[in-house]
Amino acid sequence: MADTLSIEVPAGNGRDLPGPVEQPVLLVEGLVVEHRDGTTGRIFRAVDGVSLRVAAGESTAIVGESGSGKTTLAMAATGLGPRSGGHIELLGRSLERLSRRALRRLRPEVQIVFQDPHGSLDARQSVRSGLRELRRLQPERTAWIDDAALLERVRLSADLLDRYPHQLSGGQAQRVCIARALLMRPRLIVADEPTSGLDVSVQADVLKLLREVRQTTGAALLMISHDLAVVRSVCQTVHVMRRGRVVESGPCETVFTDPAHEYTRELLAAMPGARWRARR
Ligand SMILES: Nc1ncnc2c1ncn2[C@@H]1O[C@H](COP(=O)(O)OP(=O)(O)OP(=O)(O)O)[C@@H](O)[C@H]1O
Ligand SMILES: [Mg+2]
Repeated sequence: MADTLSIEVPAGNGRDLPGPVEQPVLLVEGLVVEHRDGTTGRIFRAVDGVSLRVAAGESTAIVGESGSGKTTLAMAATGLGPRSGGHIELLGRSLERLSRRALRRLRPEVQIVFQDPHGSLDARQSVRSGLRELRRLQPERTAWIDDAALLERVRLSADLLDRYPHQLSGGQAQRVCIARALLMRPRLIVADEPTSGLDVSVQADVLKLLREVRQTTGAALLMISHDLAVVRSVCQTVHVMRRGRVVESGPCETVFTDPAHEYTRELLAAMPGARWRARR
């Protein structure tokens, strides 16, 4: 009886509490990012009024041609890049109101995996000393797993711990980057074209790994790609960007099989050998 009472919550009492399921990991409303064109000197909107929501544990993609504003959007949305307007909530915290210090504290919760794994790793550090550095910065957060087990989670042998980045293949280096992200137990992983710099033969393995990481850790994934087949294999939701704006959003299945926007149809049509085609 006492046990029952201790877990009983009076009706309505929990409504004001931020629920871990209800609260999106990332909420972007009317985001604007302006840049100055290097040639003409004119200000233009690289991101022009974008709104999106990434739920906890969800995998969301941003697709669009080169220059459509995908990276700019992701960097601004995670507080790593400048923003000119709009509202962003990261893990329920309003970015506009966060001090630099508070933002730094939030930083480990969001991990980014970039296109060029070798460029993301410090060439002067072995895999082991790179991990040691992360552990020194976040001792409590990173204590849950040792180096060998961490590498095993990304299917790398512990023998690689003493290698330097130039001694790793592209696929191995990207796995190390994913391991470093995983070590922080993030609530959101942003992957910006994570496989486009890799040999085709290892792309599928890295995508499989990202899928597994999301499923086993419950971290949400925001993946940026221009490759719709990649997006379809990993993500549940997709936002299609064109010239700084989101022109279409929805579940991948719907958007890729029955696109509403002409631009999405063009993107699909531009994919030679796609196994699926848009209905017209
Ligand atoms: N720091 C900057 N200063 C000025 N213009 C910028 C800056 N960063 C990006 N841009 C411009 O903003 C636009 C969007 O760039 P962004 O890198 O976000 O595109 P993208 O969709 O990620 O492209 P890609 O698929 O090639 O990576 C482009 O026109 C780009 O030239
Ligand atoms: Mg980009």
